[in-house]
Amino acid sequence: MTDTKDTAPARRVTLPTLRRMKRKGERISMITAYDATFARMLDEAGADILLVGDSLGMVVQGQDSTLPVTVDEVIYHCRAVARGTRRAHIVGDMPFMSWQLSPEQALTNAARFLSEGGAHAIKLEGGVDAAATITRIVRAGVPVMGHVGLTPQSVHAMGGFRVQGRTAAAAERVLEDARAVEQAGAYALVLEGIPNDLAARITSALSIPTIGIGAGPSCDGQVLVCYDLLGLTQDLKPRFVKRYAELYELGREAAARYCEEVRSGAFPEEAHGFGDVRREVPVLVEASGGYGPRA
Ligand code: KIV
Repeated sequence: MTDTKDTAPARRVTLPTLRRMKRKGERISMITAYDATFARMLDEAGADILLVGDSLGMVVQGQDSTLPVTVDEVIYHCRAVARGTRRAHIVGDMPFMSWQLSPEQALTNAARFLSEGGAHAIKLEGGVDAAATITRIVRAGVPVMGHVGLTPQSVHAMGGFRVQGRTAAAAERVLEDARAVEQAGAYALVLEGIPNDLAARITSALSIPTIGIGAGPSCDGQVLVCYDLLGLTQDLKPRFVKRYAELYELGREAAARYCEEVRSGAFPEEAHGFGDVRREVPVLVEASGGYGPRA
């Protein structure tokens, strides 16, 4: 029997797909990705959206916030993710201060995510204050995903990574932000770190899909950082994360066995080398796709 998994044409998830999913009540799965290998794995797993988040500053670069991440760095990771996917909709995250300085700066940077990064849309953090910029970017043909509630780029203004919208007045402000982002033309909205009932209220008030992280089960979709979901992060284990595997432990054990076998001489064996070069042409990487671009 032929394995069709790798050859079946994959229909790209698009803005109309996401709108239809909201209408039909089908939940949207979004996961962060930062490189081609992870992107391929998550794409094959069926993620609808891959977000090249500025969370890469923390999980890839080892920074203690997302603030040092640059546009060039996110675009670099976007390119890698784009090469690894066939089906997922790819969103590039606008980093700290990459759109606030002027409309020209916002538009120039947003466009680079599509033209250089291979993304299909951008995400930016902000509500009422970001609305005019969102409209300008959307009118130029770049789809925008909004992000309100706990916005990690405002970590200092918020006094830490704190749940937002807990008082009645604060909840009204988050709702106002969400409405402003929708009216500005965003096609989807991330709701981060807000009470479940507020997320439910926003989700039913908006016609665009909401994608929650630490915002409860009523959102139209959910997003997790891939390193969290796979159990690769060690120091940070936020309450809203569900770890579906413990890959850090698995990886550590595998690497420890490798180190041990190198020391003992158990690796490599004859079969891992090219002792028989007179009988066969040595090929370093089989032509099974290797690490390169996907067909
Ligand atoms: O940067 C990121 O990964 C994000 C998600 C957690 C929503 O913004």
